Amino acid sequence: MSRYTISNIKQKFTKQEKLVVVAAYTKSMAELADQYSDMILVGDSLGMVLYGMESTLPVDMNLMINHGKAVVNFTSKSLIIVDMPFGSYQVSKEETFKNAAKIMKRTGANAVKLEGGVEFQESIEFLTKRGIAVMGHVGLLPQSVNQLGGYKFQGKDKKSEAQIIKDAVAIEAAGAFAIVVEGVKKEVVAKLKKKINIPLIGIGAAKECDGQVLVANDLLGMSENVAKFVKKYANLREDIDSAFKQYASEVRAKKFPESKHTY
Ligand code: KIV
Repeated sequence: MSRYTISNIKQKFTKQEKLVVVAAYTKSMAELADQYSDMILVGDSLGMVLYGMESTLPVDMNLMINHGKAVVNFTSKSLIIVDMPFGSYQVSKEETFKNAAKIMKRTGANAVKLEGGVEFQESIEFLTKRGIAVMGHVGLLPQSVNQLGGYKFQGKDKKSEAQIIKDAVAIEAAGAFAIVVEGVKKEVVAKLKKKINIPLIGIGAAKECDGQVLVANDLLGMSENVAKFVKKYANLREDIDSAFKQYASEVRAKKFPESKHTY
């Protein structure tokens, strides 16, 4: 099967098929997720999930490009989106284009994602008019954690609710093909659904979104502290712990390797 294109994603949205998105960053995760996903997001959450960074702010272009390349190389079906790291799209639309083009050329990804709304409308339009597919991201914006004062639910009052809607409208008007909606209540999603005619991909948002995204490590139960919105579909942290424990004990007890493991 050939890789999904933006038009395949649009068709699924038009047919009201729910879109499945997994944030995955490595060969083995992406390879496995690819079979079941419509889109794979190489999210900058990799900084925290894989590298133990305190936030996504230290993530740079090289990190995104290296992981983006691995995910593209070991998948064949899902549409691949790579996050633009903090600092790579805030200066000007021209610099945003240069960095987005670098990500596209070096990874082979199909699209980029950036966080924010009205303030980046011009930049998103600059990209989409020049052939780069863009996914937006509204609501809880992890790259703005310092300004938000933590990873807090957004759209709590009328003013912030109205801002999220304005942001999404600006992103759609700029030509984005989809929008991640993070950490907002279902009333906000209901209002967005009335205004927006591109797929809304929820994370910590309502099931009424057109699709859902979760980080692979979280849904597999590999992460220690996860948000309330994460459902664990496996308990890999426990499985990995017991595998390491058994390996260590067998090496110490001289039970491993057995003759079948040696040359
Ligand atoms: O960085 C990321 O993984 C993301 C998703 C969780 C939406 O932005």
